[in-house]
Parts: sequence; structure tokens; C-alpha cells
Amino acid sequence: MADERSEYLRLVEEIRRHDYAYYVQAEPTITDRQYDALYRKLLDFEQAHPDWIVDDSPTRKVGGEPLEGFESVRHEVPMLSLDNTYSREEVIAFIKKVKRLLPDSEPLFTVEPKVDGVAVSVRYEDGHFVRATTRGDGTMGDDITQNLRTLRSIPLRLHRNPGPVLEVRGEVFMTRKGFIHMNEKRVKAGDAPFANARNATAGSLKQLDSRLVSERPLDVIFYGFGAMDINEQPETNVRFMELLRECGLPAPEHFWVCDSVEAIADALSELDQLRKTMPYETDGAVVKLDSMALREEIGYTSKAPRWAMAYKFEAEQGITRLHAITVQVGRTGLLTPVAELEPIPLAGSTVSRATLHNEDDMRRKDVRIGDLVIIEKAGEVIPAVVRVETSERTGKEKEFSFPGECPECRTTTVRETHEISGNTVHRCPNRECPAQVRGRLIHWCSRGGMDIEGGGEVLSRQLVESGLVRTPADLYRLTQDQVAGLERMGSRSARNFLDGVEASKSRDLWRLIFSLGIPHVGTSTAKRLAREFYSIDAIASASAEQLEAVEDIGGIMAAAINSWFEDPPNRELIEELRDLGLRLADPVPEAGEQGERILEGMSIVLTGTLPNLKRKQAADLIEKHGGKAASSVSSKTAFVVAGDEAGSKLEKANKLGIPVLSEEEFLNKIGESI
Ligand code: IVH
Repeated sequence: MADERSEYLRLVEEIRRHDYAYYVQAEPTITDRQYDALYRKLLDFEQAHPDWIVDDSPTRKVGGEPLEGFESVRHEVPMLSLDNTYSREEVIAFIKKVKRLLPDSEPLFTVEPKVDGVAVSVRYEDGHFVRATTRGDGTMGDDITQNLRTLRSIPLRLHRNPGPVLEVRGEVFMTRKGFIHMNEKRVKAGDAPFANARNATAGSLKQLDSRLVSERPLDVIFYGFGAMDINEQPETNVRFMELLRECGLPAPEHFWVCDSVEAIADALSELDQLRKTMPYETDGAVVKLDSMALREEIGYTSKAPRWAMAYKFEAEQGITRLHAITVQVGRTGLLTPVAELEPIPLAGSTVSRATLHNEDDMRRKDVRIGDLVIIEKAGEVIPAVVRVETSERTGKEKEFSFPGECPECRTTTVRETHEISGNTVHRCPNRECPAQVRGRLIHWCSRGGMDIEGGGEVLSRQLVESGLVRTPADLYRLTQDQVAGLERMGSRSARNFLDGVEASKSRDLWRLIFSLGIPHVGTSTAKRLAREFYSIDAIASASAEQLEAVEDIGGIMAAAINSWFEDPPNRELIEELRDLGLRLADPVPEAGEQGERILEGMSIVLTGTLPNLKRKQAADLIEKHGGKAASSVSSKTAFVVAGDEAGSKLEKANKLGIPVLSEEEFLNKIGESI
């Protein structure tokens, strides 16, 4: 037994070493297969001897039970920010100022990459990972311990014990590759891709379910410290970075030690070149005083240290020829000018189109066909034309005039002032325009809308072009043969799509409201409307005043909602949807009780892991609606709400013939949404 136990501990050590080699040093020492075999063995050990499991076992990196919310934690040492600049002159001024403040020293500076991610603080006590927090407001942050312990590059135990307390600060990010792979997977699964790696990282760290976090390709680099009570206090930044590495913590791969303004300028230029080849996005450089003693001497302002400064690189730009300007028609008929470019590589992808936003913007920038244009991709997916290189003009460039007719359906367009932005916009007034019909369909099927898988750009185009679908109502009349008969459509994907269409009939009211595509009504307004009015009919007959009484709904939006429902084709659509069996209302509240007692007197049992709600939240909802959350199933149980890995309670419910609801069905029943 003792032997086996030490074999287990040895295995923990071995896997930890491989994790470090793979995730921190990026130099794997064994094949994936060998690694999987070791990991499997570890899991077997832990299954056989749950009492052996050490807190920092590699298996503890897969995430645990979802949280109900993040706790607020006070930072022992505040997490400050940095002064930022885009100007090299300001960097030079900063160096000179530091030198002035330290007349008796010859200070050294370090230059390191500024990682474009999300700031975190991770606390080790006696070499053990104990807590991780976000920056928050600098004084108080969120406790994201459960999420950060799933990061492969964060050791749960340091390679050596540096002393009682070491709080390291750094940036969580996604590598370019990791980000692209994750997005590809999301698109395949029918999920919306993230706009950029930074948003994806921030979104991931806010997840309450750490099991989801463990699947995101998150990485970390540490560059600073908070509370620090260790055996050897580092005297310089260079020594501190060494110390990080000795402890097995990822630190900046590249850094420069500089003794002059010239050396710093060179380092900035080198880094600007190098960053294109680095595996993650860097949006600048951080220049820091190397000596810790000198840092203390010059100190801090209320917001930032006086000993460091961030220099931001300009967003990645490219220069290319604009060959043509085309016009895209959106679902509301809005025409958007698009620059068709000579393809150029930019920030990791090839760019051949960029948005020109609208006519006013185009005029302001004086964009002409044949111009050399500067395009910019600031981490976002859609690049934009920022300016024209007018000095390169030959005189042959042509001004673009907005077409008087819609490029899709040839209807005469109208020129108007956009109600909200005030920009001049062009609109195709033909609601039957194929581009609009298609756009409405894509919007209807989208993830934020009726969430019908497979109803994206490609299928929507086919459905409209084949004449099978004109309005969303037509979707509910499609037959299996019709869909399977479309090009590149197998009978299985046709079936899946139609199952999705059928399932969408009973979606929550807010999804339907959003999917209708009423101008200015996004998901949060749709949710508000559903909560206040409970049915499409009530919204349709609400006056502008009643609508405006709803939080966040102003005059423009109320008028847009009213006029949408006054439009005969829209009324017709609603009637058709009703006849086709779509749910046009959420459960109506009973008089006097605000509809919260729909579960009055019922005993309900929760079992398994629900996809979104935590056990306590589900129980609260049951109580809120008048029911009682019971712990065991009996003939008196009204129904069971079952999630993943539901066990004996589910079996018993089935045996007794008690209804079993999914989380979604349960929420529908009580008229709540997540
Ligand atoms: S040092 C006292 N070093 O960029 C603050 N920050 O724009 C010391 N950042 O707040 C911060 N890479 O969140 C430092 N190598 C680096 C960094 C870095 C990214 C972040 C950090 C900071 C922000 C300033």
C-alpha cells in the first residue's frame, strides 16, 4: 500500500513536470499518447483511492461545481494601472524624468512586451496556489480561484518554495492559434465566434462554471508582484523574472535591459518587429526601472507607479489598393459601402474587404476608387479603411456615388438621416428584396434569436433563392424532401435543421420578440418587453406611453415598436406564426399574485447537473413560484427537473411515472429565462 501511494505521488510529480515542459516551456518531453497514458493511470489511482488525492494533483485542473457568483476580495497591495502613451517622445520624457528624480544613480531600465489580455493576481503561500483574483477596481477584485486553477500553465505547486507569501501579477490571454482553433470549433458547433482574443479571455474568466473555463485555451504570463514575503527579496526586475522561472511560473520570453534612451528606442523597434512572430497579441511595450530599491525611492502617484510606463504600438495597419466599392444590403434594407481591396496579409489573416461604414464617413475620408488606402485591424475581425494616401493620387481615381437603386433588387433607394447616429444612410425600401429576406431569415435563426442550428448564411441563401422561404413563417411549412433536395444537403442535415425549426416553436417569448427584427430592439429590450407584457398581443396593442414606461425604452424605440406592429405584413406574419403553433406568450401571471405561484403546493425534486442553473438557484425559483424543493422522489412528487448525470432519483421518477423536465422546460413552465 505504502509503495503504491508513493508510486501515486511520483506520478503526480512526473505529470506536473510534463505539464510544465508542455505549457510553460513549450517543449514537450513526451508524445501526447504517452502523456494520456500517464494521465489515465493517475485517474485510475485516484478513483481507487479517493483519499490519496492531493490538492495540487493535475486532475484537479479540470474545473469543479459551478459557482453562484464571484466573491469580492480586497487586494493586500492595490493593483495599479500604468500610464499609457502612443508617443516615443513621451517615453523619452519619462526616462528623463526618472533620471532627474534619481540624480545620484545611473538607473537601468527593462523593456518587456505588454501582453494584451486580462490582469490577474495569483497568490501562493509556501509554494501552494491559494487564490486568484481579477483586478476589479484595483482595490477590490473578484475571486476567480476556481477558474484560474484550470489553466495548465499555472502550477498548483511551485517548483520550489520561495517563502510564506508570493503574489504574482500578470495577464491571462489566448494565443492566436488557440483563439482561432476555439472559434473554428465554436462555429462548427453552431456557436457564435468571439470577436477577438481579448474579449474571449475576459468572457472566459467571468464564467461561473470552471469546467467550461478549463476548455478554453487560456494562458498566462506574469510580470509583477503584489504582497511578497519571501526568503530572497529580488533586488532587480531581471532577478525577479529569473525567480519566476525558477518557481515554474511563466514570465516574459523577451526582455531588454537598457542603460540609455537610445537603447530603449532600439528595444521598442525590435519588439515592434518581433511581436508579429510572437504566439500572442502584444499591443505595446512596458518600460520599467530595473532596481527595486530605486522604484521605492520614486514611488507612486495615486493611480500608477512613477517607475514604469506603457508604450502602445499603433494598431496593425496595412496599405493596399482599393479596386472597387460595392454595396451590401442588410436585413433592414440599410446599404453599407464595402471596399474591395487588393488582398494583403494583416494581423494573421488575408484581408480583401474592409468596411467604409456609411456615406458620410466615406466623404469625410474622401475615399475614391483606385486610391491607395490605409486599413487597420485593431484586434477586431472586420477591418476598416482609416485614411487615404492622397499624396499617391494620379488623378485617375474615381469618386464613388451611391447607387440610386438597390444592388440586389434594383428598387430605387431612399436617402435618409439615421435616427440614432444622425449619419446619412441609404435604404432599399423593398421589403421583398432578396438581401433583406435573407437577412431576416439569418437573424431569425441566429443564436440570440430562435436559435435554429444550421440556419446560417448558406442555407438561408438557398432557401430564399429556391423560392421555398419568403418569411420566417415559411420555415415552419418546409418538408423534409424540400430541404433535403437543396444542393449539398444530406437527409440527415435536413432532418437536424427541421428538428431545430420544430423545437423553436416553443422558445421563450423574448427570443421571438428579438427575432422579429423590430428596429432598435436587441436582446435586452426583448427580455424587458417579455417580462412586462407576457405576450406578443399585449406588446402589439400597447400604446407608446405604455411602452415608454418600460425601463430603457425611449421615444424612438417606442415609436419603432408601434409602427412595426401597425404594418400589415408584420401583423400577417404574427397571425401565420400563431396558426403554425408558435408560442406567442409566456405564462400569464394570476391576478394579485404576479404569477409567482404557478407551483403552489407542489413538491419538486432536482437531480443531476443542470446546464445553467446552480442547484440553489433552481430551488429558489421553485420557492419563488410557490413550490417546495424536496430531496427525494415519491408518489407525491409533482415533477422532477433532471440534468446531466442524474442517477437514482431519475430512475425512481421513471418507475413511478412522474414527469421529468429539462432545465429549459422547467424555466418555460414558470415563465423565467436565464
Ligand atoms: S506592469 C503597477 N508589465 O497593461 C502596474 N503591465 O496598460 C504594473 N500589462 O495594468 C503593471 N503587460 O494589466 C506590466 N509586461 C507588463 C504588462 C502589463 C500587460 C497590463 C497590465 C497593466 C496594463 C497597463
